[in-house]
Amino acid sequence: MKPLLAGNWKMNGLSASVNEVEKLIGMFDGSAPDDVDILICPPATLVGLFATEFSDEGIAIGGQDCHRKASGAHTGDISAEMLADAGAAFVIVGHSERRADHGETDAVVCAKAEAAQRAGMTAIICVGETESERKAGREKDVVGAQLSGSIPRQAENYVIAYEPVWAIGTGMTPTIEDIAAMHDFIRDRTRKDVRILYGGSVKPGNAREILAVQNVNGALVGGASLKAEDFAAIIKAAL
Ligand code: 13P
Repeated sequence: MKPLLAGNWKMNGLSASVNEVEKLIGMFDGSAPDDVDILICPPATLVGLFATEFSDEGIAIGGQDCHRKASGAHTGDISAEMLADAGAAFVIVGHSERRADHGETDAVVCAKAEAAQRAGMTAIICVGETESERKAGREKDVVGAQLSGSIPRQAENYVIAYEPVWAIGTGMTPTIEDIAAMHDFIRDRTRKDVRILYGGSVKPGNAREILAVQNVNGALVGGASLKAEDFAAIIKAAL
């Protein structure tokens, strides 16, 4: 399976950030490598600009969230159709920051993944346990329940991102054995052609080891995707 290296920029980036992506492309001699899929999910304000600038350069662009409906009276929200219209091919749904900050339940996440599909995009469905859930040995129960609740019944195009909440932005990661065990667990519960990404403190220094794990089919990278050098090193670790 072709690895997917995805950068989640979260609430970071201004129009001048075009330069950072140009720098990234420059690190691959001006064209993205064919052996990996590269995705950048900038804030919604930059999706249209980035899609225009970079779609022809082998970098896919994605949103970080979408509303479940196509249009309507939902001030401040953005629909999957709008993201697709702006040039997005992917959208992240159910990131733990949205589950925590906006009270998104599995049912809401599932509806958003359906919306992505309706708009012709690939949903990146995020799952992952908290620190207390892992300490209690409940990580597989939690992730199993999130998978059953968040993946649409008629799902076609989707990606799973396993992001342990306690590993996001902390510099901590599960052991390689724990990553392997969770990805095998997820593989047993998803189709064989679905990519399963690992996310949570992926850095140039640990990317090669993590990406070599069976059933790790790429990474969802936060902080380290904001810097061209770091994201390029992570991408190279998958080649
Ligand atoms: P960090 O790579 O900054 O830990 O963030 C991971 C993440 O949340 C990606 O969606």
